[in-house]
Amino acid sequence: MTDVFAPATLGPVRLRNRTVKAATFEGRTPEGQVTDELIEYHASVTRGGVGLTTVAYLAIAPEGRTHREQIVVGEHSLAGLQRLTDAIHATGAAIAGQVGHAGPVANGRSNGVKALSASRMPSPLSMQMIGSASEADLTRITRAYVSAARTLVRAGFDVLELHMAHSYLISSFLAPGLNRRKDRWGGSLENRARLGRQVARAVRDEVGAEVALTAKVSLSDGFKGGVTTEEGLAYAQLLEADGCLDALQMSGGSSLMNPMYLFRGEAPVSEFASTMPLVVRLGMKTPVGKGFLKSYPFEEAYFREKALRFRAGLSLPLMLLGGINRRDTMEQAVADGFDFVAMGRALLREPDLVDRLQSEQADAGVCIHCNRCMPTIYSGTRCPVITAAPLPRN
Ligand SMILES: Cc1cc2nc3c(=O)[nH]c(=O)nc-3n(C[C@H](O)[C@H](O)[C@H](O)COP(=O)(O)O)c2cc1C
Repeated sequence: MTDVFAPATLGPVRLRNRTVKAATFEGRTPEGQVTDELIEYHASVTRGGVGLTTVAYLAIAPEGRTHREQIVVGEHSLAGLQRLTDAIHATGAAIAGQVGHAGPVANGRSNGVKALSASRMPSPLSMQMIGSASEADLTRITRAYVSAARTLVRAGFDVLELHMAHSYLISSFLAPGLNRRKDRWGGSLENRARLGRQVARAVRDEVGAEVALTAKVSLSDGFKGGVTTEEGLAYAQLLEADGCLDALQMSGGSSLMNPMYLFRGEAPVSEFASTMPLVVRLGMKTPVGKGFLKSYPFEEAYFREKALRFRAGLSLPLMLLGGINRRDTMEQAVADGFDFVAMGRALLREPDLVDRLQSEQADAGVCIHCNRCMPTIYSGTRCPVITAAPLPRN
């Protein structure tokens, strides 16, 4: 059986093992630039044994940020990004950049630029109207992906991860409930999939085999009008047939319509509300607002069942994500045919978890999935449980 801790290849990249730190927005770029704190955030998990860490969230355009403090990839951010990739390589790990356009999840008020989606809609985050992307916008955005990809390759990234999930721009085109367009970008799956496929093709044409190219896709958006598992798989099959990607990371849910579907476990309603402007806080007290942060019971590897359907229908390498905390879960994932295991919260709680599992100092992580890390994205992403009670070490 393949060992999760043995070296592996992802496209042209050699990884020291099959563990991946999933993108968890860091909140450490106050001026939209790499900081020492951002470098340390990633170096702590790579020193702790992970094979590949993922920098979230590298925006391709100013209106594609979820918040004005995010990095917009360009010449002005190149030197800092080089410093970041050098520091991670020095720890023996590889580094991925999550490249994205937040579409309707962007906060137009914070960015000072109007957010864009497949179709016009009100934004629950900024309380402004989100515009419908024009043909010219989609051409500009595709070019911006290409230019960001080129910059990230120059900066030394090993892997580029295209964000195609969570109701971000590409995902908003895929979801029939968010895409009401009558043109070549709306209607049939082929039309709704056009933007994601076009971006993957354009980026691959630009970067060739210099780096691995992956996408974070949806196993199910978890809201009425979102992508179902059946359509998500059909989309993934189109991506596979296009031959532009080296692997898919399988997520689900929607940062816009149903964020807790993505995380499971307790919804940190009061902590989340306290980070929001007054108008959003008041909105969260209404029945619609309360429905927004629904709780779902947490289960270890909660996306496994849906991911197995993807595994059966695809031959592309796949990364299992969602509630992975235990060594036996990782081993099961590899036995199930998944090529990599990706983790978010477990590594926020214990950056050295991979080393501890590999050396058999522990069988499982101690993250309790309270989700109170989620609202910390606005003030420096961290596990609030660590600060409350330092981890006992044997
Ligand atoms: C604090 C926090 C920030 C996150 N930020 C991002 C992000 O910027 N991009 C993204 O694709 N997913 C983001 N996620 C989702 C994670 O990548 C992952 O899909 C989710 O946490 C489930 O995996 P886990 O159970 O291993 O934590 C974030 C998750 C957390 C907890």
